[in-house]
Order: sequence, then C-alpha cells, then structure tokens
Amino acid sequence: MNSIYLVGFMGSGKTSIALRLESLLGLPVEDTDQMIEAYYKQDIPTIFQINGEETFREYETNILKQTSKVNTIVATGGGIIEKEVNRAWLRQNGTVFFLHTSWEETERRLINDKSRPIWNNQARDKQKLLEERLPKYEEVADYIIHTDGKDVEEIAAEIVSLLK
Ligand code: S3P
Repeated sequence: MNSIYLVGFMGSGKTSIALRLESLLGLPVEDTDQMIEAYYKQDIPTIFQINGEETFREYETNILKQTSKVNTIVATGGGIIEKEVNRAWLRQNGTVFFLHTSWEETERRLINDKSRPIWNNQARDKQKLLEERLPKYEEVADYIIHTDGKDVEEIAAEIVSLLK
C-alpha cells in the first residue's frame, strides 16, 4: 500500500501517533525531521540558526523525496506543506492524514516547548501561521482527523479504522 503521511502543525501529535501506528499496523516509521538531522549531520535548531529557514526548507524537500513511498508511516515536519512542490509530491505519492489541532490546544501542548525554532521565535505570529497553513494542509489531505481533546490511542485507532 501507499505510505501513510502524517501532516499537521507543530504539536499536532505527528511523531507520537506515528509511533503508535508502528505497533498497531506493524509498519516502519520514518520521520522527516530526524532524517534531515541524520542526513545533514546537524540538529534542526542549528540548521535554522546557521543556515536559515530557506535552507531548512530545501533540505526538507530533498528528504521528502527520499521517504519510502510504500508500506511506511511517515511523520513530517509542520512546515512541509509550505512549498507547492512538496504538496504536489504528497498528493501524488501518499495517503495523507492531516492532524487538525486548534490554536488553543496547540498553545496548551507546546507551552513549555523550547526545541522548535519557529515556535520559539518571538517575532513570529504563530496563530497567524497556523491559519495561513490550514488550507495547505487541507489541500494535501486524504483524511482530516480532529485531535482536540483526544489522546494518541484514540487518534491512532481512528486512523486504523479509516484504512480498512
Ligand atoms: C517546523 C516544524 C518542526 C520542524 C521545524 C519547522 C515548522 O516539526 O520541521 O522546526 O515549520 O512548523 P514539528 O511539526 O514536528 O514540530
């Protein structure tokens, strides 16, 4: 089967849900953020700091193309949908689940987060970013899963039932 791509804003649960799906479906997981760090031998905050966001987005496009197109669960970075070339690639190659999370819930989940350069960039309006990205997530989504008020177990079960 086509690989399952999980897309959604920071804090929508892509990584934890991918790991839950790994054991429920017995499929391997790939994570574009981890693949970027391994391939370019730099962690994400360093890439943003030294090379900037534009370079990070180039790395991300390159890595997306290296993900396995079959029988894999792929957790993507929250901004993967920013580039049209990535959206086209996702539409063409994957079964895409958009993990939709409200702004209020996103803020609650990420309140103590220090690891994400975009979340921690005080100059950026993150709520506006989420709103701007919404149509882009929707554009690539085969399925939209609302995650507010649900735990990882419930969301993973919802995805599994949609695959049947
Ligand atoms: C980003 C989200 C991050 C990571 C990078 C940029 C974004 O992934 O790819 O920090 O632009 O929203 P998560 O969605 O896993 O936090």
